[in-house]
Amino acid sequence: MDKKIILSGIQPSGILTIGNYLGAIKNWETMQDEYDCLFMLADLHTLTVKQDPARLRANTYELTALYLACGLDPVKSVLFLQSHVPAHAELTWILNTVSYPGELSRMTQFKDKSLKHADNINMGLMDYPVLMAADILLYQADVVPIGADQKQHLELTRDLAVRFNNRYGETFKVPEAYIGKMGAKIYSLQEPGRKMSKSDENPNGFVSMDDDEATVLRKFKRAVTDSGSEIRRGEDKPGITNLINIYSLFSGKSAEETEREFEGAGYADFKKRVGEAVAAGIEPIRAEKNRILKDKGYIDKLLSEGADRAAYLANKTLRKVYKKVGLVPRVKG
Ligand code: TYM
Repeated sequence: MDKKIILSGIQPSGILTIGNYLGAIKNWETMQDEYDCLFMLADLHTLTVKQDPARLRANTYELTALYLACGLDPVKSVLFLQSHVPAHAELTWILNTVSYPGELSRMTQFKDKSLKHADNINMGLMDYPVLMAADILLYQADVVPIGADQKQHLELTRDLAVRFNNRYGETFKVPEAYIGKMGAKIYSLQEPGRKMSKSDENPNGFVSMDDDEATVLRKFKRAVTDSGSEIRRGEDKPGITNLINIYSLFSGKSAEETEREFEGAGYADFKKRVGEAVAAGIEPIRAEKNRILKDKGYIDKLLSEGADRAAYLANKTLRKVYKKVGLVPRVKG
């Protein structure tokens, strides 16, 4: 029996945080045997906010090396750049014809980003979820592992798939979201009500996958905690709950085990231990990423092979879509 298909992606828009790692890549790594996986770098998506071109290129290599360092295997899985497979942009055009400005302007991320980048509210920013739908639907993905912040975009993807299928006949598989229980939303260390984000102006709010041990320990030492002194999860304890989740995910222990382990401990001691667990978890990944990064030729080759594999699958769907909507196929000769 064929394996189910997984597709996911991350924007190479800067150094990743442990939120991206715990919410995304760490889960992907474990799925590679059970599913046929495609892991993309959503480089076209990054252009919806202003990028420095040289920085974007460097970030793209960084993120590819990080994918590999986190255990994504280019033989088992397809690793590729979105911009290397033109079918993504082509399907976006077709899906635009079944998307409505009303539904796109209601997307939370569009509203948030419009506020944040008020000087650059471009069409791409609004069309962002349609490109994301194309990413997913092109591969007939069954499952899309994402953090909680992308859930709304996945719902839109499902709506577009159903709408297209109703209008033109069965074409796309309607994908399911996979949202991990604990890593789904890692919160800022400074404002535990907000998600940890690489674009946070306060660098103490996030831990980057590139932070060295001293930086990681310092950031956890400064992490905002809650009133009281118990180390337990609860709605009244967003700061400690977040730290328990982070510790559990890095140490491989359950949240209950973590609570038991730190029964009676003080906040300062707990924060130190969380910092140590995180530093120990990311250090080997950082070292491996930097090692891989030295060989750009290897990365280029691997991305080129990934693009061929992805394009083969994507073009199958695109041809089907073009046919369904009535475009005349090119006859060669
Ligand atoms: P991006 O690049 O913003 O984030 C990549 C992944 O990391 C997750 N994530 C988090 N998870 C837990 N806690 C956090 N604090 C946290 N911050 C980010 C995100 O939910 C995401 O899963 N539009 C997507 C990229 C994309 C994509 C796709 C994803 C493009 N096409 C197709 C899946 C399928 C994005 O901007 O993710």
